[in-house]
Amino acid sequence: MKVLAIETSCDETGIALVEGQKAADSFTFTVLKHALLSQAQLHAEYGGVYPNLAKREHQKNLPVLFEQFKDEKVDVIAVTHGPGLEPALWTGIEFSKKLAAEWQVPLLPTNHMEGHLISSLVKDGKIENVEFPVLGLLISGGHTEFVLMKEWFKYEIIGETLDDAVGEAFDKVARMLGLPYPGGPHISKLAAAARSKSAITDHPLDDLQGGNSTFAASLKLPRPMINTDTCDVSFSGLKTAVLYMLRDTGGIQTLSSAQIADFAREFEDAVGDIFTAKTLRALEQTGSKTFVIGGGVAANSYLREKLGAVVAKEFPEVEFRLPEHAITGDNAIMIGEAALARRLSGLEDETKEEIRAMGQLSISSAK
Ligand code: KG4
Ligand code: ZN
Repeated sequence: MKVLAIETSCDETGIALVEGQKAADSFTFTVLKHALLSQAQLHAEYGGVYPNLAKREHQKNLPVLFEQFKDEKVDVIAVTHGPGLEPALWTGIEFSKKLAAEWQVPLLPTNHMEGHLISSLVKDGKIENVEFPVLGLLISGGHTEFVLMKEWFKYEIIGETLDDAVGEAFDKVARMLGLPYPGGPHISKLAAAARSKSAITDHPLDDLQGGNSTFAASLKLPRPMINTDTCDVSFSGLKTAVLYMLRDTGGIQTLSSAQIADFAREFEDAVGDIFTAKTLRALEQTGSKTFVIGGGVAANSYLREKLGAVVAKEFPEVEFRLPEHAITGDNAIMIGEAALARRLSGLEDETKEEIRAMGQLSISSAK
């Protein structure tokens, strides 16, 4: 079965052509073609994503990307209908509605978070030998949630952020540290440099020489909610703590690049400690046999390594699955894979109702 998938929920315009098969308990996916245009550079000037600007860009980009797909023959079209920025989501929905009518194929509304989760289970083009329950940690610019999947396509959110998403916290802290949007990758790079105390060159802070130990040791951020007996997390206090700590050290202008890297390292450490504690709690609570992380922040090398190591140590029977780096950020491949997995499983996904953009759509409302 072949799907054309369209993703426009935030600041990436994506189209992908994916073919899928299902065997007894496995799925095979072949990405035949895919195209992705990021608006991040544009939004960087404003320090964040502006919904109406995103919408305008998607409207401009979709027809351009579609040129490469216009002669394809597919069985279905899949489109992200939420969660995300509604003006942005609508552009993809309108575009795919027209196309589905023209090509006379069904249109499958697809959940963006389910896309992150399902695609993170794919390894070498296959999802196989998945042992349930599966615990998913979805971490992106808009979401931070622990999702329990007891069987295919049945989701329960067992913990989530009470305020900011972790990606948002990365982006805001990066901004405080004078780093460009999206800040996650910059923080990650600086934190790694501070940890290894090595110089890096291809960075805005190009005089960076690594961390200074006394200064580094003096930086201590809180780990909000780390000891509460739920799987919920909170990042707004952590973000504010960075702001105060920066002020107390005399402000960003007074800091050397190495000291800024130390801030980045302490922030990333705090995030790592929080997710480690909550992941262990969630695994304990649910008896999950598989643990998978997905979403933009799942690109973070430190978190990948730290969670991998602690799960291997504390829950050696749990299989840890990591998404390939290329698909951690938003893309249409993941939308195609999630839609195919459902369709091939015989789920009735073709909605009889009009497809609408649903900014707050939850993964747990997927049927
Ligand atoms: O999933 P995604 O591409 O878009 C949303 O659905 O939100 O996630 C984007 C988020 C941004 O906040 C970005 O800063 C963060 O993912 N991010 C990272 C890294 N790469 C991207 N955060 C930390 N470390 C990274 N390496
Ligand atoms: Zn996303």
